[in-house]
Parts: sequence; structure tokens; C-alpha cells
Amino acid sequence: MSINYRSLTCSTADALVIYLLEGKLQVSNEELNKNIKFAEAKELFNGKNGEVYTFTRPSDETIQTVVLVGLGKEEELNLDKVREATGKGIKKIKELGLTNIFLRVPHTENIKLEELIKAMATSAELANYTFNKYKTDAKEEKELNVSISRCGIKEATKEIEDAINEGVEIAKGIIIARNLVNEPSNVIYPETLAEAAVNVGKESGFEVEVHGVEEIKALKMEAFYNVAKGSSKEPKLIVMRYFGDKDNKETVLGLVGKGLTYDSGGYSLKPSNSMKDMKSDMGGAASVIGAMSIIAKRGLKLNVVAVVASCENLVSGNAYKPGEVIGSMAGKTIEVDNTDAEGRLTLVDAIHYIITKENANEVIDLATLTGAALVALGETTTAVVTNNDEFYNELKSASEYTGDKMWQLPAFDDYKKLIESHIADLKNSGGRYAGTITAGLFIEAFVQDKPWLHLDIAGTAWTSSNSNLGVKGGTGAPVHTLYELAKRRSK
Ligand code: BES
Ligand code: MN
Ligand code: ZN
Repeated sequence: MSINYRSLTCSTADALVIYLLEGKLQVSNEELNKNIKFAEAKELFNGKNGEVYTFTRPSDETIQTVVLVGLGKEEELNLDKVREATGKGIKKIKELGLTNIFLRVPHTENIKLEELIKAMATSAELANYTFNKYKTDAKEEKELNVSISRCGIKEATKEIEDAINEGVEIAKGIIIARNLVNEPSNVIYPETLAEAAVNVGKESGFEVEVHGVEEIKALKMEAFYNVAKGSSKEPKLIVMRYFGDKDNKETVLGLVGKGLTYDSGGYSLKPSNSMKDMKSDMGGAASVIGAMSIIAKRGLKLNVVAVVASCENLVSGNAYKPGEVIGSMAGKTIEVDNTDAEGRLTLVDAIHYIITKENANEVIDLATLTGAALVALGETTTAVVTNNDEFYNELKSASEYTGDKMWQLPAFDDYKKLIESHIADLKNSGGRYAGTITAGLFIEAFVQDKPWLHLDIAGTAWTSSNSNLGVKGGTGAPVHTLYELAKRRSK
């Protein structure tokens, strides 16, 4: 897909997408206006949020498709509605097999032009996304040429060009994460995930260091190693560094992504139905790799280090077992209550590493950590556990801009009782009740009071259905929010 800014020249366009506000159903072209009025009179299109209406018209000896997309009332307009409407328009156009399209920027004073254009560019790319590489009979995807235009502005300003560039980079970062999640576990395993990170680093401009099993042992990452040792695939510790603010080297934002390339549950084996989609258990890793790519490509002025402790959780004569007591890089001992609560074991070593070896002052961890997050908040909202309300508000505000929904769960001290062990410092599972919270509190015991946000993306990293802005599978959530938070810190 290519996206540029171009003044509208109808003859070259197969299709026009026109965004309309409820109660303001008009455009500058009289003939189009007439059609829109007819559609309104027949109650075929009112401009209500989510509405789509398509018609064709002759244009310069050819035929042109016009897709009207409704944005609802102007007072209630926000970027998310623009994104969803763009997705609907693009999906409609793909369905019709059209390729040269114009998106007409909606007329409103309420949102800055560049913001609208950026959101349109991101969402056009996301709506165009598919993952058909393993379908041998899939029709070749037609390349879409998208032109964004606004009447009255003939040529792109620098700001418009930059908005398109930023919008496209955001989508590309999200798509990096989607692709990594969608790849099956025979293709993406720790070594190939590390290779993918190295490649993204090369393309986007950040440094990647990969450590193998000997270094993992030498670092005393015992919790991570215990999860990894049941698999014949070598675990990898992936470290990504972006120093965009070299004058302030002591300020480092740490991102930690869960990188289980497959989670069978181990000896606390998952039922087959729950095991099926567990290639997606590296969704946190995919998100941090995607976010790092945008942060580096946009040259943000801040320092970010991302760490992924990647392995598989399998059953074998070498696997860890329920009831064992294991160590951790931080020195704390852990009773293995359940081998399926493996993510937190890999995460606490990665977090201890990022704080002590990479000097992160703040940590955000992202993990497909608990089925309980899905039960509590479903597939659309990420569950957050934190030790710092100010940091949470920063995340929340960034997420309200991007549309990645987030919700904080309580982390009262009472819940800590659930992960006390009779034999070790902690146990790795708190049982069924408050599962997302106890998982978060287990991790908190390793963050050394640094400002910390734990994002449980078990529900949001994967979607079971197609939508306006994506297809079933990896979603790339919440890559955009991580980038937006970093951008707001960039000086
Ligand atoms: N990877 C799973 C969590 C998960 C479940 C992700 C569904 C995506 C969709 C995690 O490792 C896990 O198995 N968690 C257990 C924890 C329990 C044993 C305390 C769970 O949620 O059942
Ligand atoms: Mn598990
Ligand atoms: Zn898992």
C-alpha cells in the first residue's frame, strides 16, 4: 500500500471515500451533493457513526465508486471514530476490488488537520492488513494506492507529510507485532524471535544483543531457565537498546515483554482447546519490538531499553515440575505451585536484569499473563496493575489518545497473602481468585520500588474475530500506546 497527499483529481480515482458528519451532509461538489441528498431523503445514509453507503457515478468516460462513511455528531467526534470509519471505507474498497482511492479528510474544526491525516494513514494501513502467507490458493493482494486530500489544500505541507509518515510508521510497528504473533510456533521460536528483533533493530536503528543459554545461566536467571529447560529449543535473552537522549544516559525507560513462543502449560498441562492459540504467548515481546521500531524510526529523544526472556514451556524429562522450589536472579526463592504460571517466572528475571544491568529507572512490562484478564475485561481492554498512580495516569492518557483501552485493577495488600508460600519466599500462582492481580503482585515483588506498570494483554494481544482495523489473530495492541507514551516524553 502506498499513501500520499494529493489534490483530488477525479479522473484517476477508482473510488472516493467521503467522511460525513451527521447533520452536515454536504460537500463542495454539486453533483455529489445531489446524490448525498437523495441518499439522505431515502434514509439510506444519515452520517451516523458507523454508517456506510456506496454508490457509483460516471466520471470522465469511466465509472467511479463513492463510499460515504458516517462519523456521527461533530461534538462527539474523536480520532477513534475517524480510524474506524477509515477501516470501514478501506474494507469496502478491498471487497469491491478497487485500487486507486482518495480519502477526503473530514471537515471539522474540532480536530487538527494533521491529527486527522495521521489517524487516517495508520488506520488505512491496518485495515489493509492480512496474514495469508500460508494459504497457497490465496489471490494475490492488489496493491492499494491511497491518496489523502482536503479540498482547499492543493499540496502537502511539511506538517502533512510528516503526519502521513508518522501514521504509516505507527501502522508498520503494529504490523510487525501482528506478524510475529500470527507466525506459528514452528516458525517463531526463541532463536527466530531474536533474529526478528535483530532485523527490526537494523532497519529501524536500535541495537540488539542476544544472549544464549550459557549467559542466561551465568546471569543466574534461574526462574527463567527453569521454565526454558523443558524444551530442546534454546532460550534467548533479547536486549534492545535505543539511546535517543545521550545527554541523559541515566534516565532509561525499561520495557519488558513476555516472550513465550509456545505455552503448553508444562506438567500443569493445558487442555487442548486452551493450548491451540498459545503461539501468541509472545504477544508482549512482539509489542515491545514493534514499539521500539517506531520509537527508533521517529528518532524520539529519550532512552529506552527493552528486554525479552524468550523460551517455550513444554513437557519433557527435563522440564520443571509442580512442587519444586527454584531460585531467581534477584535471589528470591519461588515455590512452583503451577508450571502453567510460567510467564511471571520469565518476567521477574527479565525485570531484575533490566533494573540491575541496564539501569532502567522505570519499568513497563507487557504480558499475555492470565486467562483471568480475559474473564475480567474481555478482548478489548488491557488490565493494568501498578505501584505508581502518576505513571498509570500517564499511560491512561496516552491510551485515550490511541484508542487502546486500559483499566487499572486494585492491588490491595490483602491479595499478597494468596502468593505466600509455606516453603519458599513466594509461590508462583495464587489460584483462581483475582488471578490477574496476584500475577501482578508476584511481579511487583521484583521491581525494587521503581515506578512500574504491568499490562496484562492476554485478552487484547489476540482477537478471535475480524474487525474494521484488523483480522482474526494478533492485534498489535498496545504498540501505539507505548509509542505515544514515549513520544510525550521525548524532548
Ligand atoms: N499464557 C497463559 C495466559 C493466557 C491465557 C494467555 C489465555 C492468553 C489467553 C499463562 O501462562 C497462563 O497459563 N496463566 C495461567 C495462570 C494460572 C496457572 C495461575 C492461567 O491464566 O490459567
Ligand atoms: Mn501458562
Ligand atoms: Zn503463558
